[in-house]
Amino acid sequence: VESASVADRLLHYYDCHARRLPWRAPPGTNATDPYRVWLSEVMLQQTTVAAVIPYFEAFTARWPTVADLAAADDAALMSAWAGLGYYARARNLLACARVVARERGGRFPSSEAELRGLPGVGAYTAAAIAAIAFGARAVVVDANVERVVARLFAIATPLPAARAEIRQRTDAITPEARAGDFAQAMMDLGATICTVRNPACGICPLRETCAAFATADPTAFPLKAAK
Ligand code: ADE
Repeated sequence: VESASVADRLLHYYDCHARRLPWRAPPGTNATDPYRVWLSEVMLQQTTVAAVIPYFEAFTARWPTVADLAAADDAALMSAWAGLGYYARARNLLACARVVARERGGRFPSSEAELRGLPGVGAYTAAAIAAIAFGARAVVVDANVERVVARLFAIATPLPAARAEIRQRTDAITPEARAGDFAQAMMDLGATICTVRNPACGICPLRETCAAFATADPTAFPLKAAK
């Protein structure tokens, strides 16, 4: 419908087309386990969804709870991580699991501010966990979201300076309810439709309101600073 907001359209798209990823609650359920959300988001920092899936399955089979992971020995964890790269993430993973298990009774904090205090949890990851696991209205901006929003508003400032405006625009379209689904819908849209080189504008749920679609070349956004 003509007057549906960006969030309405995107949530409808998510209800119909969300990728069935193992860290997501099965459709129709509300079973987001903060441990699984945290583990997936740490693994997804600098690693693709396709590469993460088998590691996520192996970790959660071997260590089903944060307490189980906290009790893992360092060498076992490092060898299970082998192949994912960026090994500082694995050391932080274990440090974070131990803090949550030993100092917080196995429960992840729910606010962005407290989440940010955990080892290896930066601004992006804290926002993602708060929104996806706890239903908080957090503004989640990763590289996919950045591209989608830069295109939706045809943001005229090049990266990296555009980041402030991209964050404001994302904040303005993030709904009060279902911010986690909204964030993951943006990620799915960026990964499967609003791709870097070959966006499938013909099937995009946001096409009618996309400022870049109305230009000759949607892929020009986000603009990049001249080298
Ligand atoms: N990349 C980072 N977090 C993600 C998520 N929750 N779903 C899909 N891709 C992601």
